[in-house]
Amino acid sequence: MKIMDDEYYSYIKEWFRKESRFYHFLVDIPSSRFRDKVVDFSDVRTGSRILDVATGTGGLAFAFAKKGYDVVGVDLSEDMIEVAKRLNEYKNLRFEVADATDLPFEDSYFDISSISLALHDMPLTIREKAVEEMVRVTKPEGNIVIVDYSLPKNKVGSFLVYHLMKAHETKYFPEFVKSDFEALLIKSGIEIKDERHILLGAGILLKGKTYASAEQIVEKALPAPNSGGSRRDSPQGLS
Ligand SMILES: C[S@@+](CC[C@H](N)C(=O)[O-])C[C@H]1O[C@@H](n2cnc3c(N)ncnc32)[C@H](O)[C@@H]1O
Repeated sequence: MKIMDDEYYSYIKEWFRKESRFYHFLVDIPSSRFRDKVVDFSDVRTGSRILDVATGTGGLAFAFAKKGYDVVGVDLSEDMIEVAKRLNEYKNLRFEVADATDLPFEDSYFDISSISLALHDMPLTIREKAVEEMVRVTKPEGNIVIVDYSLPKNKVGSFLVYHLMKAHETKYFPEFVKSDFEALLIKSGIEIKDERHILLGAGILLKGKTYASAEQIVEKALPAPNSGGSRRDSPQGLS
């Protein structure tokens, strides 16, 4: 496990050391209007404290900050964070180098946590831990907002997106995009509230809510009386 993790950390740092030179121009600038839509989708309340995990060069963090919220952006890559810091003109936004699997914040510190275009860059064990950490640092009933790739429903679209992205993304992309991502969120204590397919199905925008209490997590995971199945089948969309 340790060897695999070490390999992942050095691979990701090296990958984003190279990408840090052009990421802002190739991704942040063209996607800035989309980031604003993600902010609208997040249901942020006045005075909210927001964490953007794996923030990269800060594209989504800037979109939250320009609306006046208090924002922290963290990323594993010193090179990406260096670019984000250089671009930052907001007093209500700060960037830090930090690992998503070990967030340097106390429990329930943030109202909202987001992660955009980053879970597909993590192997499953790291991804699970990162989502668990987001739940831990987010207040009960706070929102978790996720943007990532998905595969279109139709076979041709799915084939094209899969192979195109596989050629350009990190080696963790194929496993991520085929995985049961929603199951991972539910297992981590997130109730999915809204889910939108974007980019003709090649992307997903998802908003979940952390449970109010540990009892609620247990209750949701248990089979409903007389159902013979799990509460994941419930009409509230908990599956
Ligand atoms: C494709 S970039 C996405 C950046 C940004 N969130 C966006 O929407 O453009 C993926 C980012 O995830 C970061 N990352 C990968 N694993 C991480 C981890 N364990 N902890 C923190 N950041 C991580 C990478 O360093 C990289 O900056």
